[in-house]
Amino acid sequence: MKDNIPEEFKINEPIYHDTFLINGKIGKWKGEFTDVISTLLSGHKDDDYVLLGKTPKMDEKHALEALESADKAYSNGTGDWPTMKVYERINCMQKFVDQMKIKREEIVKLLMWEIGKNLKDSEKEFDRTVDYINETIIEYKKIDRDGASFHNNSGVRALIRRGPLGVVLCLGPYNYPLNETFALLIPAIIMGNTAIFKPAKHGVLLIAPLLDAFQKSFPPGVVNIIFGRGREIASPIMKTGKINVLALIGHSSSAVSLQDLHPQKNRLRLVLGLEAKNPAIIMDDADLELTVNECINGSLSYNGQRCTAIKIIYVHEKIKKDFLDKFCNKIDSLKLGLPWENTLLTPLPEPNKPKYISDLIDDATSKGAKIINKNGGKKSKNYVFPAVLYPVDKTMDVYKEEQFGPVIPIISFSDINSPINYMAESNYGQQVSLFGNSEEKLGPIIDSLVNLVCRVNLNSSCQRGPDIYPFTGRKDSAVATLSVHDALRSFSIRTFVASKDNPKNKEILRKLIDNKKSNFIRTDYYL
Ligand code: G3H
Repeated sequence: MKDNIPEEFKINEPIYHDTFLINGKIGKWKGEFTDVISTLLSGHKDDDYVLLGKTPKMDEKHALEALESADKAYSNGTGDWPTMKVYERINCMQKFVDQMKIKREEIVKLLMWEIGKNLKDSEKEFDRTVDYINETIIEYKKIDRDGASFHNNSGVRALIRRGPLGVVLCLGPYNYPLNETFALLIPAIIMGNTAIFKPAKHGVLLIAPLLDAFQKSFPPGVVNIIFGRGREIASPIMKTGKINVLALIGHSSSAVSLQDLHPQKNRLRLVLGLEAKNPAIIMDDADLELTVNECINGSLSYNGQRCTAIKIIYVHEKIKKDFLDKFCNKIDSLKLGLPWENTLLTPLPEPNKPKYISDLIDDATSKGAKIINKNGGKKSKNYVFPAVLYPVDKTMDVYKEEQFGPVIPIISFSDINSPINYMAESNYGQQVSLFGNSEEKLGPIIDSLVNLVCRVNLNSSCQRGPDIYPFTGRKDSAVATLSVHDALRSFSIRTFVASKDNPKNKEILRKLIDNKKSNFIRTDYYL
């Protein structure tokens, strides 16, 4: 098996990554290490997990050093970084993205090996992140421009801008270890906050090639990157109460336990992207071909390991049979392959995931559901072939749990209140996909759905992009909104200088502007 890997995608030697970034210095780790394994080849006879390398298992002492460094760089908002001219922060970011681009090949290869994402999607993740940074720079200039003029109301003159919030603890998910983490980190730091960033449990080695770029682009303490287990390094940081923003994409259980450790909760702002259970609702007049394709992509791209994946399907009784036949046939024809073969289905990176998915299937079948596609549920060491389960009901775990993997529960309905009630009762409220053609029927349903979730995808699968659009959720699915524009708002607060409108104050303001004595009070803007 190992011999069939194209030369450019081989990892010939394990990568012993032993560095971290604290206070502008790349330190060498001398303590314990964690093995980084890949499950890619473990489905094949004779092949077990591949040791990709090792990564530091850092401890509380170093975590607190990283915090101290971020805290010092912020200095309660008086540090160089939060008070710097906006264009200087933009220049640092530009320098970073220019250096990041050089690492594309290395990072794409590690994305495939560490998290099993196919080549096309790994490249997309990298390119999308670079685009995100460039668009953030453009958007920040726009926000800065909007804040470059004085208001005068009821005898009070004001210059209103957005200012940073403080020290950010940034934790990303394994399914988008580069993109989603950077979609938090980049807006956080460009707005003048300082950050401590710990990579996710999978997709760790791929951050290592960027340490140098971070070190060369940002002043000491602005970005601190540490490696290890959340419990050992994120928890002690939270306990100090010095974190002003918890930015986390992942599971609500981690978000809740970290928040609980903070001694002064009102000071802690949250930017969270959490679980979802996005339904597809298929009306009786839906275009079947299109619906089947969108539901397959929606539920199975990256094997369903996306928070935006379609995780339950409601299909109208009238077209149930046709839909299920077509859907199952198409799923059974999907190929499972290695990431560089660009198949839709690829090995699951978490060693315990196949068992979890099988358990969900067993639970549902023991309560009356059937696996209705021929290959559904076939298991190997690193995979479970997508199982279409029908009919599913509320007694089954897969009805409410976010499966984050290749199993698709289906329920049929004749009354639209059935999916609507499901969504109303659900703990989640991110997105929905609605398939149908009659505006008479769709109109009132859309009016209800927009208040149950934050994005209604009409005849399209659920997704986060394009990143210019708001990404958020109701209930337990999210706190705060992310998009190129909204993330800059989420990581900042409105702050302003106000003065009574009299000749003396006017003169001071005039002089401040003319003599460029303040980085905040200025009316120029960047093109
Ligand atoms: O895991 C959740 C991601 O935000 C999904 O993003 O819809 O672009 O795959 P995506």
